[in-house]
Amino acid sequence: MERSEIFDIAHQRHPIAAPVAPERLRELIGWLSPSDGARAVDLGCGEGEWLQHLLLDHPGITGVGIDHMLPTTGARRSAERGLSDRVRWIETDAPAWSDGEFDVVLCVGASHAFGGLADMLGAVRRHLRPGGQALVGDSIWESTPSASALAALEVSADAYPDLAGLVRAFHEHGFEPSFGHVSTLAEWDDYQFSWTGSLVDWAVRRAPTTEDRSQALAAARENRDAWLSGARRELGFATFALHDVAAGPTGVTVARTP
Ligand SMILES: C[S@@+](CC[C@H](N)C(=O)[O-])C[C@H]1O[C@@H](n2cnc3c(N)ncnc32)[C@H](O)[C@@H]1O
Repeated sequence: MERSEIFDIAHQRHPIAAPVAPERLRELIGWLSPSDGARAVDLGCGEGEWLQHLLLDHPGITGVGIDHMLPTTGARRSAERGLSDRVRWIETDAPAWSDGEFDVVLCVGASHAFGGLADMLGAVRRHLRPGGQALVGDSIWESTPSASALAALEVSADAYPDLAGLVRAFHEHGFEPSFGHVSTLAEWDDYQFSWTGSLVDWAVRRAPTTEDRSQALAAARENRDAWLSGARRELGFATFALHDVAAGPTGVTVARTP
């Protein structure tokens, strides 16, 4: 099975590919206030739940979802929601893509596509019109990571900041957070067990071949083991609505002091 197939199955019951509950997603999106005619982009959109809820809340705006492995479910759900004429889904490499400036830039759980947090924030700024809004979600450490967490996640301790470090990075890139949400353990468990549960259900009930069944079960076990043997309670996730404050109120860029 292709990795993309495993991911599509794993997200069947949790279309938000991040440890964020649907009501928290809607609350975070509620902090964005694009005017009619605004354009939004979702970098590393996955099924595009963030972008779709932004479009549902603001009937006068349009959006673009960018992902290098676009799941078909995003386009299907946006059609069911009557959004097809206001959204474009583009399958491409996000760091290499550009289409002018956007009023809102979304990037949740996709900083790895840009090589990490700092480069992702740089990309968000490049796509954002001066004075625009962004919504960014990324991994943090909830506590100093243990050796078992680092081994389970196959990262070094400096792979992620703590919550204060994440906010510092926003400031360093000229953003001021308005609302923030730190994912709870319940949101993490729901995300992780939906991920593995969807794969196990599919493997047992619907896999067309024994090889597919074995692969899906192996992927579920590997993910669950990594979660339970280290990452749980140590790996965190935080999502913030951000204002670009490097620009003045008229959209004129203000020189920042070094
Ligand atoms: C953890 S998922 C988050 C998806 C979505 N933002 C959400 O919160 O539901 C990360 C997404 O980034 C996408 N991605 C990773 N590398 C990428 C790249 N180089 N260009 C575009 N998308 C990329 C993956 O395909 C995946 O859909």
